[in-house]
Amino acid sequence: MDRRKFLAAVGGASALAAMSASEKADALELAMSEELDKIVVKPGICTTYGREGEEIVKGVKRDKYFMMGEDPRLPKMSEKPTLIEFYKKRLGSVQHMCQSARLARKNGLPEKIVLACLLHDISVGGLIRMDHGYWGSQMVAPYVDEEIAWAIKYHQALRFYPDEEVGYEYPEAYIRYFGPDFKPEPYVAEAAEYARNHKWYMTARQITINDIYSFDPNVTAEIDDFEDIIGRHFKQPEEGLGFDNSPVAHMWRTMIYPNNFL
Ligand SMILES: [Fe+2]
Ligand SMILES: [Fe+2]
Repeated sequence: MDRRKFLAAVGGASALAAMSASEKADALELAMSEELDKIVVKPGICTTYGREGEEIVKGVKRDKYFMMGEDPRLPKMSEKPTLIEFYKKRLGSVQHMCQSARLARKNGLPEKIVLACLLHDISVGGLIRMDHGYWGSQMVAPYVDEEIAWAIKYHQALRFYPDEEVGYEYPEAYIRYFGPDFKPEPYVAEAAEYARNHKWYMTARQITINDIYSFDPNVTAEIDDFEDIIGRHFKQPEEGLGFDNSPVAHMWRTMIYPNNFL
């Protein structure tokens, strides 16, 4: 949005300078949504379950309609969206996933595992962070080999548990993220234990081994680099992701229209 308009909306440059980074992000989001001719209400899961959302809905000046359909702030999706299109127009964490897949390919792993690495954090990038292994696994399950979906589900729990025999240590980054005393919830420990004794353990473990901790600024991996592997191992629905009536089509539609009121 226009910088001058944004400064006016927040009360000038000095008011902006006094804000924290997250306040600035909130102010920008608010200013951008006020510019729209639609009212955008954040879903409950992104707020405190309607405690502030209620106010927005009830107290709103009804000179605008609520957001339904295309959100003009986002790139327009085609009528039959492909996986690659989601990477280009909707997902975050794309460099992370592409660099992980690139590493898996460099390590000579089978294409199925390279694809698993490419998809492993797709939920973090597009839908939701909490239990991202489970959400991500469901999102792709109708379109990939069962083993890939399984591995995506369990990589989340396995990330917390070292396996020195195969060269996987507890991520140093997790000490920074969660503190030295962090202990995963019991359901995570149980999932990791279950996965460890499963025939597909090493597939999920390979995701964690190739899950890069830090970005290499000298490497840029692009989603297009994996077009061939996606073509061979991801069953792209003809109607487009979100419109194929699969049990997970609604998840893809949520990413297409993330701000719809209903
Ligand atoms: Fe992950
Ligand atoms: Fe990751």
